[in-house]
Amino acid sequence: MSYFEARPFSSSTDVSPSSPVSTILSGYSTPASEIDEPSSFISDGPNARRSQYVLVVGGLGYIGSHTSLELLRAGYNVVIVDNLDNSYLSTLDRIKELRDDHYRNTSWNPSLTFHEADYRNEHAMSVILKRYSAGLSGSVIEGVIHFAAHKAVSESIQQPLRYYSNNVAGMVTFCTLLDSLNIKNLIFSSSAAVYGEVTSEVGLRISENHCLHETQDWIDAAGKKQVTQGGCTAISNPYGRSKWMCEAILNDLAVSDPEWSIVALRYFNPIGCDASGKLGEYPRTEPSNLMPSLLRVMNGQMPHLKIFGTDWDTRDGTAMRDFIHVSDLALGHVAALKAVGESRLEPGFHTYNLGTGDGSSVKEIVSAMQTCSGKVIETQEVGRRAGDVGVVVADPTRAAVELEWKTAKSIENCCQDLCRFLQIDASAAYS
Ligand SMILES: NC(=O)c1ccc[n+]([C@@H]2O[C@H](COP(=O)([O-])OP(=O)(O)OC[C@H]3O[C@@H](n4cnc5c(N)ncnc54)[C@H](O)[C@@H]3O)[C@@H](O)[C@H]2O)c1
Repeated sequence: MSYFEARPFSSSTDVSPSSPVSTILSGYSTPASEIDEPSSFISDGPNARRSQYVLVVGGLGYIGSHTSLELLRAGYNVVIVDNLDNSYLSTLDRIKELRDDHYRNTSWNPSLTFHEADYRNEHAMSVILKRYSAGLSGSVIEGVIHFAAHKAVSESIQQPLRYYSNNVAGMVTFCTLLDSLNIKNLIFSSSAAVYGEVTSEVGLRISENHCLHETQDWIDAAGKKQVTQGGCTAISNPYGRSKWMCEAILNDLAVSDPEWSIVALRYFNPIGCDASGKLGEYPRTEPSNLMPSLLRVMNGQMPHLKIFGTDWDTRDGTAMRDFIHVSDLALGHVAALKAVGESRLEPGFHTYNLGTGDGSSVKEIVSAMQTCSGKVIETQEVGRRAGDVGVVVADPTRAAVELEWKTAKSIENCCQDLCRFLQIDASAAYS
């Protein structure tokens, strides 16, 4: 029996039906008032965090749900906030089921709590965060991972204000609240999009130094001295600019207050799903990324996969990306949280590429998926999409050295896991 099979939040708490936030419990929860009780002390597991919580904002989305699961598997208590703008509540049950599978033969498991709220709603977020207050010593939230954002490049070109409102203005409001509550460990979902068109100029591997927020000298992989001006270089769409703006703001925040530890993780191209096949990607909106589109074609929900651009300067003319298994990416967040928690990182603003260091073309991914599934995947070659770039591959060295993290899974693993997901979950996922 779990130590956390304790009292749920009381229905007579400050969350009333008319309040802007609803709290949904998934199995177990631990309100602040219970946190110091001896019964909540968990001693097994090297990573067990008995009395502290990680707040995962946007935690029911594709990357957020896989990260929440890996945090739980690593022993962290997880609090998810999501407004379900691009996700479904059923994902919460999937995470819970996989957590329970992981802890099946143990006498405890970490807690998982969900609050449905828009992270831009200062009042709602303040109500939630105050539940985790630890009196004068601050908060029992040891770190925040912020995934909540809109993410479609083409849509961002059509609706820039919607993107800047959610991604940038929302983050400023949210950080202001965190600051006021003295919660100052933040991991931010950034993107390789911050490199803009620099990616195609520098060749195959891009280092964090190609996008800096203050002008700096650095030595490249060939031992040559380079200078990068602080600022944004040829970002080709509002989505990428929104991520760059967030990073610049977070850098300024860390400079202004040395108590902040902020890690911006620049993701390359996440694909795949949990190896169980029981957790995948469930977008509400029409997918614009490669893998969910590909799955819809395999599932018969789309007639063919559109390949945008066959005239890029690559092996086969299709765009090349650094495709990273989403579980590897999720573990990158666990590594970053540990590095901050163990004070291996100085306070301040840090950026890390999360990628494999290898590129695959769109056609290569389609072919790998065909081999794995034994199915023919129909494609249609169309022109380049506005805002796209040709080649984006990470130099992941900094994350390997400073976060002690590197990828473990291959493209074949991604395809195998997705085939398992399609077998187990397809009708539920895309109904
Ligand atoms: N998927 C990618 O290829 C990719 C690549 C680079 C960076 N990123 C970044 O990673 C993060 C997560 O991406 P994802 O692929 O999981 O996207 P997603 O859309 O699957 O997940 C985002 C989650 O945030 C929630 N959300 C959005 N706005 C919110 C708000 N105002 N309040 C509360 N919740 C809100 C959505 O409902 C969704 O559950 C995003 O910040 C995205 O920009 C994604």
